[in-house]
Order: sequence, then C-alpha cells, then structure tokens
Amino acid sequence: MGVKLEFEGRDIISIKDFSREEIDYILKVAKGMESVAAKGSDMLKGKILATLFFEPSTRTRLSFEAAMHKLGGSTIGFAEAEIASVRKGENLADTVRTVESYVDVIALRHPLEGAARLAAEFAKIPILNGGSGAEEHPTQDLLDLYTIMKERGKLNGLKIAFVGDLRYGRTVHSLAYALSLYNIELYLVSPESLKMRREVLQTIKERIPVSETTNLEKIIPLVDVLYVTRIQKERFPDPAEYIKVKGSYKIDMKTLSNAKKDLIILHPLPRVDEIAAEVDNTPYARYFQQVWNGIVVRMALLALILGATK
Ligand code: NCD
Repeated sequence: MGVKLEFEGRDIISIKDFSREEIDYILKVAKGMESVAAKGSDMLKGKILATLFFEPSTRTRLSFEAAMHKLGGSTIGFAEAEIASVRKGENLADTVRTVESYVDVIALRHPLEGAARLAAEFAKIPILNGGSGAEEHPTQDLLDLYTIMKERGKLNGLKIAFVGDLRYGRTVHSLAYALSLYNIELYLVSPESLKMRREVLQTIKERIPVSETTNLEKIIPLVDVLYVTRIQKERFPDPAEYIKVKGSYKIDMKTLSNAKKDLIILHPLPRVDEIAAEVDNTPYARYFQQVWNGIVVRMALLALILGATK
C-alpha cells in the first residue's frame, strides 16, 4: 500500500503544490470519469460550484460548469466582472468571503498574478485556479497531461516542444513544471522576447533536459508532441512589442512536411493564426480531443476536492 493521498478540501492554485504521485492519481481518476461523463451521475448532488471569471473564457468556465452538472451538482457565477459588485469597488477578498456562503467550491480566473493564492488565503472553501494572469493555469495543464497520456499512451520518454508565447502564456508555465516530474525532453521555441520565464526555466532545468531555440523548422522532425500557444496580445505592456512578434510561428502542412508520422499537435485554444485550418483534419491535430478531456479532468478534480471519490 502506498501513502494515502488526500485531496478533500484542497485548493488547486499551482501545479507545484502537487507531487508526481498525486498528479498520476488525478489522471487515473479522470480516466474513470470517461464512462461517468457519458452516463451522468449524482456523485455531487446538492453541491454548488461558483465560477468567478474576471477575464474572458470559453472552455475553462464552461467545462467546469459542464463537469459539475455531469456529477449531479449545480453552478452559479459570473463571466463578466463588469456586472458584479467588483464594478462598485468590491475587492477580491470580500467577493470570495461572500460567495463562499453560497457554494462548496470556487473556480476563479483573474488577470492578476497571485490573485488565486490571495483568494485561497481568505476563503474557507477550496479555490480552483482557472488562470491567474500570466502565471499559471494548473487545471489546463492536468488536461494537457491527460491528453498526451491518452493519445500517446505514455508520458515518459517523449520529446515535447512548446511553441509561441512562453513568457506570457500561463498554460506553458504550469505544463513545464508538471512535465519536469516525468522523463521528458523539452524544446522551447519562441521569439527572443517571449522566451520562457526565468523562474520556470531554472526549476525545470534542474530536472529534465531543456533546450531553447527560435527555429521551429529545426525541431519539428525531432519531436513527438507539439504544444502550440497563442501570442498573448492582451498581456503585452507595449502594443508595439506585440506587432513585432505577431504571427511569428504558423503551423501548416508545409511546416509539418518533416514531422514524425505519429506527431500530435496540442493547443489550449483559443487559436488565432498559429495553426492553419488545413491541419485540423489531419491525424496530427488533437486539440479538439483536448477540449473533451477538459471535462473528465475537471470532473475528477471536483469529485476529489469535494470528497466524493471515497
Ligand atoms: C488559455 C488561457 O486562458 O490561458 N486558454 C484556456 O484556458 N484554454 C490560453 C490562451 O488564452 O491563449
């Protein structure tokens, strides 16, 4: 018997708060949710999730809500901070201390780094970080891991490349931390000005081989997984800097001409122009499978955090 893993009542703020053993367990529970998602369940009957989204979202918010409904629970929340009392000057701490009287768990997305951690300090109920500025997006990275596992049958031994905005893209920060717990080789492809944040790089380089390049062409034939990201226009302090890197990388059939046959391409979505539509119908494209996986992974997280898996 291994050590007992405890998830009930926990926050999910950073993927760094989770061990490899815990991540593996979450992925296992998510797999078990595939059949539950198809049939529906009342595992979380009577439980309520609040989604407090202070930034735009399609997948993260709707999949949290769908996951809750599939487990028999219900949801309340706002997707537009403009209509909440935040507009009247209410701070995040008061918002969270109010909402926790109504619900059992809160999923929060906020433009500021540290916002999810702050909310968790004030809340007595679990906080799930649905994206905190450019910092982290831990539930996305769990569904990314789950997708790689499901589509490639393993994590260990793979060569994985991140392409695009590694500075402001929060999903790649969480995913880099998580992948560094496995036996992975990581290639970081970005324009000079959008290189991986230094604190992430320092941590992951101590654990796995990492190489940085601006040259996408060179790494395409080497890798098993290509994780493409959007240039995060809204996070650039200077619009002129965005113009310089806009459209830096575009994955199309020509770019993929030297790719391994079994390469898979992931993208957290939304995409702008970094993957051409012609790639969508090839076996490389797995980004819409990734969307489905978001449901089962978030079902697993909700069930674990609310103590329904015992
Ligand atoms: C990402 C995000 O919000 O960080 N989207 C998502 O949650 N699937 C990626 C992005 O906005 O580019």
